Amino acid sequence: MLVRYDRFVVEPRPFPFRAELLAPGVDGAAPDFEPVAATTDLPPGALRRVSRGELDVLLAATPEGIVAIDDRCPHMSAPLSIGELEECVITCPLHEGRFSLCTGEPVQMPTTGGLDPDGRYHPTWSPGGREAKVDPPGKKAEARRLTRVRRLRYYPVRVVDGRIEIALPTVPR
Ligand code: FES
Repeated sequence: MLVRYDRFVVEPRPFPFRAELLAPGVDGAAPDFEPVAATTDLPPGALRRVSRGELDVLLAATPEGIVAIDDRCPHMSAPLSIGELEECVITCPLHEGRFSLCTGEPVQMPTTGGLDPDGRYHPTWSPGGREAKVDPPGKKAEARRLTRVRRLRYYPVRVVDGRIEIALPTVPR
């Protein structure tokens, strides 16, 4: 099946994430795949949550391939599956953080500010046209300041006979 994006047509295929971004607990050498969806359930640009036990996984059909990550924002765990996907970049529904599913990195810090994956501090910000947010000192401001946005971690994906399969953790995370 070919799927059409704005600028090109691709066959459903896994996104080739960098090895160091493998999700914890997954056996990268001998991944144990299980089917989670049909490729027809994940058209271009679609987001979908699949759950296995306590684990909620986000499937995303990007132009670079199918991505599987935790369905938890790397900021404060909101479900990314109800966010917005634009090519490789997903916007979180909670604090407008934007994250590249193709690099694992934030491309826009949340409005709350805080620490990026490298531990650098970013101040609070307000979307254009709105008054700048006052961030009164106290425990909540401190919590925002010390919250670190994590890098995304990926579950291996494969596509077999029109099915999307992912490898889940085999050891406790
Ligand atoms: S929970 Fe996603 S940006 Fe804050």
